Amino acid sequence: DRGWMSSTSRSGGQPRPGVDKGPIHLVEAGLPDQLRQLGWDVTFDGHHQFEEISTQDDPPIGILKNPRQVSKVCEAVAQTVAGHAKKGQLPLTLGGDHSLAMGTISGTLSQYPDACVIWIDAHADINTAATTDTGNIHGMPVSFLLGLDESIPEFSWVKPRLTPQRIVYIGLRDVDAGEKKILRENGIKAFSMHEVDRYGIGKVVEMALDHVNPKRDLPIHLSFDVDALDPSVAPSTGTPVRGGLTFREGHYICEAIYETGCLVALDLMEVNPSLSDADAVKQTVAVGCSLVRSALGETLL
Ligand code: ARG
Ligand code: MN
Ligand code: MN
Ligand code: MN
Repeated sequence: DRGWMSSTSRSGGQPRPGVDKGPIHLVEAGLPDQLRQLGWDVTFDGHHQFEEISTQDDPPIGILKNPRQVSKVCEAVAQTVAGHAKKGQLPLTLGGDHSLAMGTISGTLSQYPDACVIWIDAHADINTAATTDTGNIHGMPVSFLLGLDESIPEFSWVKPRLTPQRIVYIGLRDVDAGEKKILRENGIKAFSMHEVDRYGIGKVVEMALDHVNPKRDLPIHLSFDVDALDPSVAPSTGTPVRGGLTFREGHYICEAIYETGCLVALDLMEVNPSLSDADAVKQTVAVGCSLVRSALGETLL
């Protein structure tokens, strides 16, 4: 197994400083060596800070905050992820805020056009420029990936190669009214915490895979927002929402996706070490590392 890890340390898709420091904590906690112990040949190519991309002169477009910076960082991430995927490596991207998934998923799709996306999150991140209440672009990446918002030329590089049938959500519990309408109108499959409670996580993952990957033969991009987990499990994140996935439910998702043998790319996003005390950070970072290990083959027995 060949893996490639990149930490992408940007936070412009949301307002709270610190999420750009998440990756450094995950790496310093020993994630690269943990993955080597699982048998991965890990190339860690450093913390991409994208210093060359200016954060100056980036006034809002409508209410969208830092649009040029977020767009350029994501475009660079897309190229980097695509380059590693092309070499047969499995790109693991540590965020950073979830706007980065515009980049990672674009990169995956350029190498694997038939890939499907499994999006684990408390949020749908599918606002458009017209529906967003906050102007935070981390609440919007899915709409750009699906080509639902073509009003912002800065994001026209995001080729809408993802189709609504090729994405599925698990863990949702804080979806804006405009987002609910978008999900409904586009027939996008989503398993909220209500379905997790009703069916159990095992059945939910099976139904999610049956939807996006019925024959289990398509490449899978797993994009995991750590705020999908309950705040008691992963407290250090920018937009925590109570009533989330348990520790085991989060890990089960990762284990089950690994077992398909179809995983080609992985994101772990929204770990923000500056938002809580040291113990909470330690707990969140440890959970982040173990989610990644589970998605990359760690088993309990
Ligand atoms: N729906 C809200 C918004 O549009 C929250 C999004 C939170 N997204 C995230 N990646 N944590 O701002
Ligand atoms: Mn690189
Ligand atoms: Mn998210
Ligand atoms: Mn979220």
